[in-house]
Amino acid sequence: MTQGPDPHAAPPRGPPGALRLPCAAPLLPAFLAPLLACPACGGALAPGPVGLDCADACGAGPFEVRGGVPCLLPARGATHAVAAGRRTVRAFERQWRRYGRLRRLFGKDARAMAAFLTGARMGGRIDAAWYRGRTVLDAGCGHGRYLRAFRALGARAVGLDIGRGPEQAGLEPDPEGLAWVQGDVLAPPFRPASFDLVFCDGVLHHTPDPARGYAALARLLKPGGALYVWLYPREGRVREAVFGVARALTTRLPDPLLRWLCFLLAPLTLGVRSYSGTRWGRATWGECAQVVHDWLAPALQSHHAPQEVHEWARAAGLGDLEPLPVPVGFIAWRPPSPTAA
Ligand SMILES: C[S@@+](CC[C@H](N)C(=O)[O-])C[C@H]1O[C@@H](n2cnc3c(N)ncnc32)[C@H](O)[C@@H]1O
Ligand SMILES: [Zn+2]
Repeated sequence: MTQGPDPHAAPPRGPPGALRLPCAAPLLPAFLAPLLACPACGGALAPGPVGLDCADACGAGPFEVRGGVPCLLPARGATHAVAAGRRTVRAFERQWRRYGRLRRLFGKDARAMAAFLTGARMGGRIDAAWYRGRTVLDAGCGHGRYLRAFRALGARAVGLDIGRGPEQAGLEPDPEGLAWVQGDVLAPPFRPASFDLVFCDGVLHHTPDPARGYAALARLLKPGGALYVWLYPREGRVREAVFGVARALTTRLPDPLLRWLCFLLAPLTLGVRSYSGTRWGRATWGECAQVVHDWLAPALQSHHAPQEVHEWARAAGLGDLEPLPVPVGFIAWRPPSPTAA
């Protein structure tokens, strides 16, 4: 005899379309679930006994869902495969745990972040009105505050970071349109053509293979979508040499020592310009210490020429490359349809 539905069963939780996980595990938001893919093979994900499984049974996973955040890190072949990559991840986790709740990060409060996303820094085609109803990925979202700004502009905002920065910085999800995923930009766990904008600010130069990261992010663009990338510029020989020697030491310091060093060096931001404009006298001691930590702590840090991004964009089939007001920053666009040039 077949049984009908149990009239006493608890009603299903969450909005229709949400990916339901076993028992008491939280639901993934309805808007997020269809965007996700196995980081190893790109196949669909399905609920499994401990979180999410690759529906194509490629051998990757199972993938844990911790506190509602899917952990979709590739098992091998990406950032964690490299010792310096693992040290870089730990450095950023410490950074967001320690500094992630400051009022301003990289010199910006919430208002300045919104202005950043709607001003010249995003090129000539993206303004405040552009975001409404769009789906945006913040690749390497760190503290996650830009997700709030994208959401406030009317977009559905998805964050991706290799660490747990958003939780460490106290970010709150919004089931209607703000969520994040732990994963690697070198093997992003999303279906191709999922996003109208991929925003990647100050991230690829902390990976072992920025060109691979660019190509992987370009695949996530919908036709007509845009890829924003900002990277550290290659500087003059003296500056490169001085920072190369300094970082060879600081990236190996035990964390408590590095923490004090960043605190002591914070006033140097008066004379040594930081890319974010965070400057002693205009920013608090902690805000200056954060940008010093950001520069001195991550083991992986590469510097780039604009020509490299030109080549990456061409190889990825992106066009309309627009240089942004600050080097090395570019927005590139995926042609609107597969047949368009
Ligand atoms: C300098 S922070 C930038 C944060 C944010 N995008 C911003 O502009 O304020 C770099 C972030 O990239 C993340 N990251 C580094 N390598 C990554 C990778 N391979 N995949 C995903 N995130 C990565 C770090 O964990 C860190 O949170
Ligand atoms: Zn798979």
